[in-house]
Amino acid sequence: MCGIFGYYNYRVSRDRRAILEYLFTGLRRLEYRGYDSAGISFDCDPVVLEKASASIVSTPVVIKSSGKVDALVKLAYEEAVKQGIDLDEVLDNHAGIAHTRWATHGVPSATNSHPQVSDAEHKFVVVHNGIITNYKALKDFLIKRGEVFISETDTEVIPKLCNYVYKSTQEKLSFNELILEVISKLEGAYGLLFKSAYFPGELVACKRGSPLLLGIKEAEALRPLQSSPMRRPNPGDSFEAFIASDASAFVEHTKQMIVLEDNDLLHLARGTYAIYNVSKDESGAAYGSVSRALSTLDMEVNSIMKGGYDHYMQKEINEQPDSVLQTMRGRVKFDRQPKKRITLGGLVDRISTIRSGRRVMFVACGTSYHACLACRQTMEELAELPVSLELASDLLDRRAPIFRDDMCVFVSQSGETADTLKALEYAKERGALCIGVTNTVGSAIARSTHCGVHINAGCEIGVASTKAYTSQMVALTMMALALSEDSIRLRPKRNSIIDALGVLPDQIREVLKLDAEMLSLAEQLKEEQSLLVFGRGYNYATALEAALKVKEVALMHSEGILAGEMKHGPLALVDELLPIIVIATRDRMYQKMLSVVQQLLARGARLIILCNSGDSDMQEICASGGSRLIQVPETVESLQPIINIVPLQLLSYHLTVLRGFNVDQPRNLAKSVTVS
Ligand code: F6R
Repeated sequence: MCGIFGYYNYRVSRDRRAILEYLFTGLRRLEYRGYDSAGISFDCDPVVLEKASASIVSTPVVIKSSGKVDALVKLAYEEAVKQGIDLDEVLDNHAGIAHTRWATHGVPSATNSHPQVSDAEHKFVVVHNGIITNYKALKDFLIKRGEVFISETDTEVIPKLCNYVYKSTQEKLSFNELILEVISKLEGAYGLLFKSAYFPGELVACKRGSPLLLGIKEAEALRPLQSSPMRRPNPGDSFEAFIASDASAFVEHTKQMIVLEDNDLLHLARGTYAIYNVSKDESGAAYGSVSRALSTLDMEVNSIMKGGYDHYMQKEINEQPDSVLQTMRGRVKFDRQPKKRITLGGLVDRISTIRSGRRVMFVACGTSYHACLACRQTMEELAELPVSLELASDLLDRRAPIFRDDMCVFVSQSGETADTLKALEYAKERGALCIGVTNTVGSAIARSTHCGVHINAGCEIGVASTKAYTSQMVALTMMALALSEDSIRLRPKRNSIIDALGVLPDQIREVLKLDAEMLSLAEQLKEEQSLLVFGRGYNYATALEAALKVKEVALMHSEGILAGEMKHGPLALVDELLPIIVIATRDRMYQKMLSVVQQLLARGARLIILCNSGDSDMQEICASGGSRLIQVPETVESLQPIINIVPLQLLSYHLTVLRGFNVDQPRNLAKSVTVS
């Protein structure tokens, strides 16, 4: 949670207003990571590089506010006027940092927002994404040495520690050396950006556990020929750099980027950058300059814009015909001739190892967990292996047994979720094969797993996961298909699933036409206090996921219930008032679901039945009064959850809008849960 962003220019003239706008735009792109409060720091005087570092030439400006980035923007311009800061002044060298927060320590307030500072002169200014686990001990240590703390954050120890180290090393260290000393005292996870009144026009960034990317926009001189790769800037070269928790924050400026690794420290100064890494071996910690490859970002600016939709969630729901196709692209042969119809590049060498494993264990949180639940039966039936399901936090709480011959599949949209990442470390320590299924190339989970599948759903910005969910189900289904490829007995089943995958995008396109119908259903339900969703078999996951969507964005109590458990308690809730969605598409569970519908109707329940188009039994029930139908196209039972969730995503979207809540940034939530 939390997004950090830094902008650095050297011999590239930008007026202060443009610099501020770069910082604000970066923050807006990262706002999905946290939106409790925000802050920035920039210089109020032009940078004078020749000055002696032991004196302060100019105190960096720090502006912070609770609430969204828009509130910060308004405040920043008001403050600029109040403080007499010239917004039109052109600065050839500048280092600005910014932060958008999801509170972990201390309530959302201006004091607790970042940047956190060392003192009133802002000698050291820090923005942080992550958590410092030893902050109490550090705080006690610093208080004893006269530092005064004003916030409730864990982060405040960092700028104070900078000050302490600066003084105790008699001001002899360069900025990067000083920060190296500081981070050697920190425990926990961090992406950090530092600015200092002692080191004007310089920026230091470092990371451990939290993501950090460096985007570089070169001046012409750094790329002499159009086709030649960019060369690394030499001291004095003119260039701009962007440092962010996520590439979406700078994709509109540059696609040249470096993914920083854990324990990397980046120093931007005097028109060049250097990256150092602190690695620990048996002989202790070694600190050395490293070279990290420059890569080209595979993301289009359009993918992070709303593109004609009112909200990202709405856009992402509507993108699903295309996103599921992207998940399959180059991996599925839709023509029946070849024996091998599924190729997953990230797993080719591992298929036989997985097949010979003791069991498949799915590990995930939230919606990603529901994707695993939806695909468990497919995996059991095709891979013919026992499949267990673990919520990452629960796996860690129980320290559940994991063995060397377990095949653990970690599913995560962001690839950053702290519990999933910790569970991955836990499984790795026990020698299991760890497989990642993520939507974020270069994410911590993608990098730490032994092998895996990228779901390629495209950037998901709405906090409620929609298109990543359907793509996760497609990816897990492809994995199950690949694992069964040697079985002649299973070939007909495999072929029917692959054929169904071929028409899935069109079927999703068809379901999206239910939008107006879902809006009218949302009109009917918008004043309700509670909503139940019943499902079983493949669609138990659909019930859980639909209920999660309704509660997290529409802020309406909603519960997904395994229909097989109905008589064991939930039936007591049923009356003529409580709306209940029953998922009863035609699969092996259909007769049982029909009986669930009858039993609910016998108690006067108010039903919304999600069934396949042309289901005469359900149409008859509906005609006899009271119930409402949502009719969706039919596919093979293992893929039906992908179709079934779409109208329920639309329903939760419309409920949210009608109830007047924030669709893309539901209260108290953040997109990437990087703390446990
Ligand atoms: C709900 C939602 C969350 C995430 C969960 C795991 O819409 O998005 O429940 O699914 O926080 O996140 P990832 O998939 O990034 O590990």
